[in-house]
Amino acid sequence: SAVHHLKWEIKYEYRSPDCFQKLAVTVNGDNPGPTITATQGDTLVIEVTNGLHSENTAIHWHGIRQRGTPWSDGTEGVTQCPILPGETFTYRFVVDQAGTYIYHAHYGMQRTAGLYGLIRVLVRNGTIEPFSYDKERSLILNDWWHKSTMEQATGLSSLKFGWVGEPQSLLINGRGRYNCSLAGGTDVCNATNPGCSPFVLTMVPGNTYRLRIASVASLSALNLEIEGHNMTIVEADGHYTQPIVVKNLNIYSGETYSVIVKANQDPSRNYWVRLNVVSRKPGTPTGVAILNYYPNHPKKSPPTIPPTGPLWNDTVYRFNQSKLIKSHPNYTEAPPRTSDRVILLLNTQNKVNGFVRWSINNASFVPPTTPYLIAIKENLRNVFDQNPAPGTYGYQNYDIYSVPQNSNGTLSNSIYRLEFNSTVDVILQNANTMNVNNSETHPWHLHGHDFWVLGFGLGKFDPDVDPKSYNLIDPILKNTVAVHPYGWTALRFRADNPGLWAFHCHVEAHFFIGMGAVFEVGADRINKLPSYILGCGESRRLIKT
Ligand code: C2O
Ligand code: CU
Repeated sequence: SAVHHLKWEIKYEYRSPDCFQKLAVTVNGDNPGPTITATQGDTLVIEVTNGLHSENTAIHWHGIRQRGTPWSDGTEGVTQCPILPGETFTYRFVVDQAGTYIYHAHYGMQRTAGLYGLIRVLVRNGTIEPFSYDKERSLILNDWWHKSTMEQATGLSSLKFGWVGEPQSLLINGRGRYNCSLAGGTDVCNATNPGCSPFVLTMVPGNTYRLRIASVASLSALNLEIEGHNMTIVEADGHYTQPIVVKNLNIYSGETYSVIVKANQDPSRNYWVRLNVVSRKPGTPTGVAILNYYPNHPKKSPPTIPPTGPLWNDTVYRFNQSKLIKSHPNYTEAPPRTSDRVILLLNTQNKVNGFVRWSINNASFVPPTTPYLIAIKENLRNVFDQNPAPGTYGYQNYDIYSVPQNSNGTLSNSIYRLEFNSTVDVILQNANTMNVNNSETHPWHLHGHDFWVLGFGLGKFDPDVDPKSYNLIDPILKNTVAVHPYGWTALRFRADNPGLWAFHCHVEAHFFIGMGAVFEVGADRINKLPSYILGCGESRRLIKT
């Protein structure tokens, strides 16, 4: 297997992805960052230099499990100290599983500022995949704000809460279109700027394509459709699925899919690729790209209007599509029949000392300044609360349909310690927010492991009844899964990867105000930490020794 050496410089540069000019994070000058392509088993060595001048950074390789290299997970506060301006940090890890993954900043809300890109891990030569295609294309989906990330983060963490609001535009491969007449002047918003024309997805009539699709959205649940073309879902988060044909795809932040698309429609025209916000009331125009049938002109506008797609508030539609995603019969790895431990996580929105926060079992997550991985390996016991994080919270009597009574949650940095090799079930239970008749969609992402998705429900999880309907035959393995409004999602994983692993809602503005947790797995089996990861908070003094 090969070793790929990459040198990246992270900077802020002026960009106009949707015609509106603002600062965006670039990787070697590109926004989105470059696509990484490697083969299963290869090693990636990525030297990241922070050229942001006045911001720290850290980069997470989302979906890569980091077996044996937990310090390369790139999660500031959990697995590493931040990379300071001017400094270089080298990530070194093996991509042990083929599939579609992403990378993104994991420092504060920096992903929102545009630090993201795609990772393609190809199968080894000679390996047959359960589908075939002529060519491959990829689409990375995002939502985009004109307000700076710093302003957003300040609003979220102020006593006078400032919500980030709905995004100004949706981006497909870093391109969108804002209506510049809404922005006033033309110096900051210029619709004739070539940088802001829609992305063009070119296909040759008669060919079959594998489309890799990933969402790094900061907030929005998305629905993607290719006008006039069905999509057959074949891969989800690096695992082969039973092929299922859909007209449009719901995709939540942190998820990746591969779909098969046949260019078998009228070759004399172009088609729309249509992207909408779902689950939240859209305040954002439809995002579009152009599916260009070669040799039509790539800019030739399709003669139709983009398809409308499902209603934004059709929860049942999204819920049903989630349930369709199952593991491919020839690639199914069945889950253990039983689990050693069940952790029930009630997701609520509360106030903590007057601040708006998200809480898990009434504890709102705040990472310590010394990363957990270092604190645990170096036995720094005063870095975080040594009491176990809460495994449940007044659940029997909790009414998930009403505004939380509790207006005083607590801040917490305690963690869940999982026994090495134990099988753990996590039930994520959604509830009403602080607004009446409102519950949101939360895509939860686990670092370091893939989990089996055992089941979804709408309503309150019943621990005596619902486990009987778990899918133990062919559940899909994933690293990110949606918890639908007022619903629950049950997942199971084997805690077999020593390290400290974040588990959190992938909505940037939710994790930032507490919607997360950390799992410790087999700390005594973690190899000696490389000294280059030390250097912040309580670990500073370790460097001298
Ligand atoms: Cu893609 Cu912890 O995130
Ligand atoms: Cu969330």
